[in-house]
Amino acid sequence: MPTPNISPRSSFSRALVAPISASFRSAILCLGTLAATSSVVLADDNSDLVARGRYLATAADCAACHTAPRGGAPFAGGYGIDTPLGKIFSTNITPSKEDGIGSYSEADFARAVREGVAKDGSHLYPAMPYTAYSKITDDDMKALYAYFMHEVKPDDHKPQQTELPFPFSVRSSMAVWNLLFLGQDRFKPNPAKSAEWNRGAYLAEALEHCSTCHTPRNTLMAEASGQSLAGGSIGSWYAPNITSDKVSGIGGWSDEDLTQYLKTGHVAGKAQAAGPMAEAVENSLQHLSDDDIKAIVTYLKDTPAISSGDKQSRSDLGKPSTEAEAALRGTPGQEIGENGFHVFTGSCAACHQVDGQGNDHYPSLFHNTATGGDRPDNLVSTILYGLHRTVGETETFMPAFGPDASFTDRLSDRDIADVSNYVLSHYGNSAVKVTPTDVARIRDGGEKPMIVELAPFAGPIAVGVVVFVIALITWLALRRRSQPALG
Ligand code: HEC
Ligand code: HEC
Ligand code: HEC
Repeated sequence: MPTPNISPRSSFSRALVAPISASFRSAILCLGTLAATSSVVLADDNSDLVARGRYLATAADCAACHTAPRGGAPFAGGYGIDTPLGKIFSTNITPSKEDGIGSYSEADFARAVREGVAKDGSHLYPAMPYTAYSKITDDDMKALYAYFMHEVKPDDHKPQQTELPFPFSVRSSMAVWNLLFLGQDRFKPNPAKSAEWNRGAYLAEALEHCSTCHTPRNTLMAEASGQSLAGGSIGSWYAPNITSDKVSGIGGWSDEDLTQYLKTGHVAGKAQAAGPMAEAVENSLQHLSDDDIKAIVTYLKDTPAISSGDKQSRSDLGKPSTEAEAALRGTPGQEIGENGFHVFTGSCAACHQVDGQGNDHYPSLFHNTATGGDRPDNLVSTILYGLHRTVGETETFMPAFGPDASFTDRLSDRDIADVSNYVLSHYGNSAVKVTPTDVARIRDGGEKPMIVELAPFAGPIAVGVVVFVIALITWLALRRRSQPALG
């Protein structure tokens, strides 16, 4: 299925492909006999290739980052990705010769997508998920290139440029990072596993780049080794553990639940997709074939289980609260969470109901992974930013109560902390507590990795590291010498 957000398509592509095949045809006709048949084959081959490229671009969700929100031209860039380093703007990847990638050869394109190096040799920031795309096969790269060159509509505008503060403005530092963290291998099927498993692994690891969000990052912001899919913080949101662990991960979800989540972003009595996961479902996952979703599910159920130490699954926690209902009727309520209770009845209960049970249209706040986990990030972010997800013809919407909300809806950090604590203690994981400072931190893009906290000290630290390394080498050398020779 073609996707609505990625649709500068058919008539245009025919216009573009037709003259090419026509000129081919006349050239070949001059050559003689085989002409007619081979030109037809060539045109057909190309449209198949372009169609496959379109599907792959959807699976890889290129549009999510390369299209500016609220009606930006498809793939024309300008989407500002909040990273702990600052805002990184995506570039124009339409085939515009001036402002896009119109002058990229297939090799240039493959190098940018898989190695993070632009045609002019400058390094891209890993906000472009080339560490995952490095696994994309040569055949698929060819199809992607054909799609971008022959079907995407050129857009002659330069999007906003990325300007990160020093030292992150030094793009060449990414060369060192790549040396440390960029795998050079294309996807290799595991012969011990089924074809379906391997298809799922390829989709999840290479195209859908699930791990770029769901794997925790180390201090240098690379995916932590041995922690694949164990849960990662991405700005204001938290992408939970989706390893096969039965309690901490999705090992306890049925295949049907997982399929439904990936295709629609909603499983009643379990989980909803908000924030970046809503985008992944909306732009990419809902458009995959049933076989491909099944393959991803097969793969997910078979990843190495990693426990985060939870005692109970985050989707099983909590229950409806009759206390809330009682309080609403005027029974002396609990003293704690007085304000939380008022915010809840004023801003939330109309949809989620006073007992938190929800109804056919609105989810329950217990048995809900956003309230049952061991971190409040997704609960607080959903309150701050709301939720918006379009799947097929169905729009799912929860209003925002944070800085983007209208004046009458807007809640203060204190109100959001109070209502979060109210929700957590009545319906979710009561061990989790939220302070107004937590709300401000999440609003401000979440926890900063050490590398960012240390940035202002980059110079002194570099000197310190050099001194330390010299000292270490000297010490090792001395120790060697002072040890008796072995053997
Ligand atoms: C998670 C967000 C994200 C996704 C998904 C993504 N990109 Fe990017 N891409 C970026 C960002 C951000 C940049 C610019 C990075 C920089 O300036 O260092 C970029 C840069 C590029 C460039 C370099 C363009 C230039 O100006 O030289 C190419 C080519 C590219 N992306 C192609 C793709 C393709 C093809 C896909 C899908 C297979 C894709 N991108 C998916 C974020 C993304
Ligand atoms: C751009 C970041 C991003 C990408 C890419 C991504 N996810 Fe997610 N995912 C998230 C976030 C954030 C959540 C939490 C959403 C929420 O609770 O509203 C999430 C939630 C989930 C959940 C539900 C977990 C729960 O406990 O509620 C599943 C299952 C999941 N993702 C699977 C996947 C798979 C499989 C892929 C790749 C095909 C993927 N995700 C790609 C960010 C991402
Ligand atoms: C106008 C109706 C409406 C109001 C008001 C509303 N919500 Fe929601 N809420 C929704 C809808 C719709 C969803 C998403 C359902 C889905 O994804 O299928 C949702 C989802 C959620 C989720 C799950 C998010 C996730 O990432 O999984 C939480 C938690 C939540 N709401 C809490 C609240 C709180 C707290 C308030 C009050 C501050 C509130 N809601 C107000 C309609 C509403």
